[in-house]
Amino acid sequence: MNLFQKTLPCIFLLSVIIISQVFLANESLAFSNDKQTILITGANRGIGLALAEKFKNEGYNVIATTRKMEKAKALSKLGVQVEILDITNQQSVNTLRDKLKNQQIDILLNNAGVGGHSTREFKDLDIDRLGKIFAVNSLGALRMSQAFIPNLDKGSKKLIASISSRMGSITENGSGGAMGYRASKTALNSFNKSLSLEFAKQGFSFVVLHPGWVKTDMTSEEATYSTEESAANLFKVISELDKQDNGKFYDLHGKSVAW
Ligand SMILES: NC(=O)c1ccc[n+]([C@@H]2O[C@H](COP(=O)([O-])OP(=O)(O)OC[C@H]3O[C@@H](n4cnc5c(N)ncnc54)[C@H](OP(=O)(O)O)[C@@H]3O)[C@@H](O)[C@H]2O)c1
Repeated sequence: MNLFQKTLPCIFLLSVIIISQVFLANESLAFSNDKQTILITGANRGIGLALAEKFKNEGYNVIATTRKMEKAKALSKLGVQVEILDITNQQSVNTLRDKLKNQQIDILLNNAGVGGHSTREFKDLDIDRLGKIFAVNSLGALRMSQAFIPNLDKGSKKLIASISSRMGSITENGSGGAMGYRASKTALNSFNKSLSLEFAKQGFSFVVLHPGWVKTDMTSEEATYSTEESAANLFKVISELDKQDNGKFYDLHGKSVAW
């Protein structure tokens, strides 16, 4: 056996090691480029801000919106992509849609919402003021879903998750009050249920979520959860959603809520 024949097994082994190292390096590169992208509305404070932070920390590409840049200091510090958006304004929605035209989006998270006008007695209710609540909570989220369906169609998850509220459940309404807020979330739920049927064949999932009673500007310090706790639970639920969840209403623990 000459020297070449003796060293042939070693050369073969070395080649296998080098090729597998190159292959593994390419694999890990492909994985790091494979981040999911989420678009979150109303992310400059409250639950939206905590969700932006959680998704960013979990390795997502986060596009987070604010109505005004000067209100988004905490959001900007997260190192996410911050965009201006008022969901009640079609021009504002169109501007963001055009800016993100070729961007693949895997999840649209309709979080922006308002509490709003509520009175002890029906006679004191200023019905015209309820229009603003519907404009944000129901029609604003609907506007976003319509505008971003083409981006979601490019994505792998095709998920539109909307932060609703248990207060939008007709079945669970045992105390009345907050009529505009309740109905605005009921309308949001209804829109999503209809869309879940229309887009099921295209592989989309429309899910509405109750975030719990959370300490934010909308509520009070007496609320049950911190924004971080709510966001951590919502992250777990959202990241585990699949096509079978299309048209469902869940709370932050993944339990079904009655319509
Ligand atoms: N907190 C709770 O216990 C609770 C319970 C059930 C459901 N929710 C729902 O959870 C979501 C987040 O609530 P939150 O408690 O975090 O409220 P929040 O602290 O009051 O924050 C609301 C967010 O929505 C944004 N927003 C309001 N109107 C908007 C518009 N026209 N266009 C774009 N963004 C707009 C706000 O932006 P600005 O800073 O510019 O106003 C803010 O970023 C809402 O949909 C709410 O209904 C909350």
